[in-house]
Amino acid sequence: KEIFLKNYKAPAFLFDEVHLTFILGEQTTTVLSTIKVLPSSNAAKAPLTLDGEDLKLLHIKIDDRQLEIGEFEIVNRKLVLTSPPSTPFVLEISTEIQPQNNTSLEGLYKSTGMFCTQCEAEGFRKITYYQDRPDVMAKFTTRIEANKELYPVLLSNGNLIDQGGLEDGRHYAVWEDPFKKPSYLFALVAGQLVSRDDTFTTMSGREVVLRIYTPAGDISKTAHAMTSLQAAMKWDEDVYGLEYDLDLFNIVAVPDFNMGAMENKSLNIFNSKLVLASPETATDSDYASIEGVIGHEYFHNWTGNRVTCRDWFQLSLKEGLTVFRDQEFSSDMGSRAVKRIADVIRLRISQFPQDAGPMSHPVRPHSYIKMDNFYTVTVYEKGAEVVRMYQTLLGKQGFRKGMDLYFSRHDGQAVTCEDFLSAMFDANNVKIPTFPLWYSQAGTPTLTVTSSYDAENHTFTLKCRQIVPPTAGQPDKKPMLIPLAVGLLNSSGQDLPLSLVYDGESSIDLKVDGNPVKTAVLRIEKAEHEFTFKDVTEKPVPSLLRNFSAPVRLNTDVTDDDLLFLLAHDSDEFNRWEAGQTLGRKILLDLISRVQRGEELTLNEAYVEGLRSVLTDQSLDKDFITKAITLPGESELIDLMKVADPVAIHTARRFVVRQLAQSLRKELKQAVEANRSSEAYDPSHPHRARRSLKNMALVYLASLDEPETTELAVQEYKAATNMTDQFAALAAIAQNSGSARTQALSDFYDQWKHETLVVNKWLALQAASDIPGNVRNVRDLLDHPAFDICNPNKVYSLIGGFFASVVNFHAKDGSGYELLGDVVIQLDKLNPQVASRMVSAFSRWRRFDEERQALAKEQLERITKLEGLSDNVFEIASKSLAS
Ligand code: ARG
Ligand code: ZN
Repeated sequence: KEIFLKNYKAPAFLFDEVHLTFILGEQTTTVLSTIKVLPSSNAAKAPLTLDGEDLKLLHIKIDDRQLEIGEFEIVNRKLVLTSPPSTPFVLEISTEIQPQNNTSLEGLYKSTGMFCTQCEAEGFRKITYYQDRPDVMAKFTTRIEANKELYPVLLSNGNLIDQGGLEDGRHYAVWEDPFKKPSYLFALVAGQLVSRDDTFTTMSGREVVLRIYTPAGDISKTAHAMTSLQAAMKWDEDVYGLEYDLDLFNIVAVPDFNMGAMENKSLNIFNSKLVLASPETATDSDYASIEGVIGHEYFHNWTGNRVTCRDWFQLSLKEGLTVFRDQEFSSDMGSRAVKRIADVIRLRISQFPQDAGPMSHPVRPHSYIKMDNFYTVTVYEKGAEVVRMYQTLLGKQGFRKGMDLYFSRHDGQAVTCEDFLSAMFDANNVKIPTFPLWYSQAGTPTLTVTSSYDAENHTFTLKCRQIVPPTAGQPDKKPMLIPLAVGLLNSSGQDLPLSLVYDGESSIDLKVDGNPVKTAVLRIEKAEHEFTFKDVTEKPVPSLLRNFSAPVRLNTDVTDDDLLFLLAHDSDEFNRWEAGQTLGRKILLDLISRVQRGEELTLNEAYVEGLRSVLTDQSLDKDFITKAITLPGESELIDLMKVADPVAIHTARRFVVRQLAQSLRKELKQAVEANRSSEAYDPSHPHRARRSLKNMALVYLASLDEPETTELAVQEYKAATNMTDQFAALAAIAQNSGSARTQALSDFYDQWKHETLVVNKWLALQAASDIPGNVRNVRDLLDHPAFDICNPNKVYSLIGGFFASVVNFHAKDGSGYELLGDVVIQLDKLNPQVASRMVSAFSRWRRFDEERQALAKEQLERITKLEGLSDNVFEIASKSLAS
């Protein structure tokens, strides 16, 4: 059942035009599909194979003639036409489905009374028999018929070309999408919805109608999504010259949705939590995610829809690129440095472990059992890093040239990652033979850089060594191109001007337009590569891998003193933050081993003072301060230990948090007091930065678990006028067990029990708690009326939230693992995609001690032995076991 990239074959039959008719009903829905089929020259004698799952075939006709037994067969979720005509013909297929019983939330399903679809990657085959693959692109026309009272709004892709009434209280609408598209971009929505309407005038003067649909009660929460959409449309014109191509753009918010959102042509469908926001119910981070994802799906219109993927192995072609684009959009809307920091944290806590574990795969995977399992942080976030490296190497203008060439070559096509690479490099006249390895080699490269200064000759040398580690199925790796952005700081913290570097073979001119640069981008292409800077008149402190110029693990010989110096002075804000993190990681790892040896714990004074000066530096962005004062997370530390020790990690980190809170008490209190505000909520950067600093300070103070600090948090909770402040105060209080916690949690629930998205935060907060023995509470919450295992958001909040507590999920008695095993088994029958995302939490099981390994293994075995297990869960669980 495994599918391989190397077996790709172009389709022998093209689909030119598709007409779909949906008769939506409460018991059954029928789908009539009429397809103009164009056999290609290599189609002679080839059978035509259509994909189909959970469908009841009503009839099948070719050129109006009903097919007889023997002319087709249905085996293994395929309908095979054994000898189709070799000249163009019309294929007509009628099927019956039951969307109301579809709990997998792919294909056509019902969510709180409305019909909606999710077809990517392979959900269209649950609607009708089709060549469900992205390189088959057709023009779709869709007619929808439904009861008018229950489903007043009928939507599909493209333009509304006809609508009207039918008998028996029914009505219809016909939509036509003028752009050819693969089936995964098809969408249909029918329900009782209202819309917020607005417009956008494109750069060439086209007026586009924008509509965001929700159930009536939620419409007031769509203002931020609409502003974000307009900003995204403008940004894509400004930065890439890309304009929207239809007169209508629709977004629908649905409460039951497996993923974040889907870029269906002109009918984006979103998980409600990525559309709905009001100051009272959504946090700053929700506002930021909405802006980012609205942008992401909109940007797909060009990077994904106009130019799509040849096959699913190329997923990063559209996702890596579109994530890169949404990251840049968010950076331009808010703070560039803070956004970069957040993205790198995400990469480190999720992607690096994936790259080092049993599910490791290249940005372009070589094989899969279930494609849904490859919508991963590797394909998305590491893929975005690969795209970012083009820009780092070619410059912003060079990157834009590459994008322009990509669209001029491939508009309307289904293409591969090589096509993108060729456009980038051809447009700039460069060749980098080691670059494509980023698409084919898995694993996070380790880059070791040591430096030496030659005082006599005024040279400064960086010795770089790269190791790409062996990963599942890829024992041997080749060295690949690593762009290393470097600055050299003089003793007063200024960047030295850089003009020339010698790389062992030749001298490289670093100047841009004749001027020396502050940051040089070195191209490391060999396993060992040395770079010598000339005319360096004093011993500098190197700032390495500025702005995280490549997705690697960096080891250096930079001393603690140098790190403190960088934390105080680096002009590269990302590296200023990184210096503090590197020091933090060192200190934490040292404390962890002291915990394990039963030694006394003390905190490095210089580190505390370094953080104190950041905290009180009025010139710094407040969100940057928040990030700089936040310690590396427990999950990141798991990754850095030979044998991960959850209890020691938790003990050491908690110790540092409380020590910092003690030592910086005065400054933290000051940060809380100085950053309160009585102004109306404003989600823009300066305001959210202020709140983030205040709330971070509050969480630190409350960690002390003293009556006075708890009281401060309770006061902040009561004074809060928006969800950001209210929820942060709740989280601060809930760190410590005691009556304040119980009280606050119950007040919060009473206040918000009718707002499902807020209740999900309440579930997640409790689930992620480090309070000893919290597994019990999580089990109880599974039975709470606020939980519903059929709703993915609830599962991600409660079960996904639980993984965030390293001590409780990895409890020594195995109770956390058992809980996850139970949930996965129950979920697998309902929704394999969600079950498989949950079972992935086991994939790091080898990182722990033998007892924990045995307990995790027991659950994985219990799962793989299950009768009727989905391919989704089977793939993750069996690969985890095999590692
Ligand atoms: N293309 C969607 C996005 O914008 C995600 C679709 C996810 N589908 C899936 N089966 N995992 O990223
Ligand atoms: Zn996407």
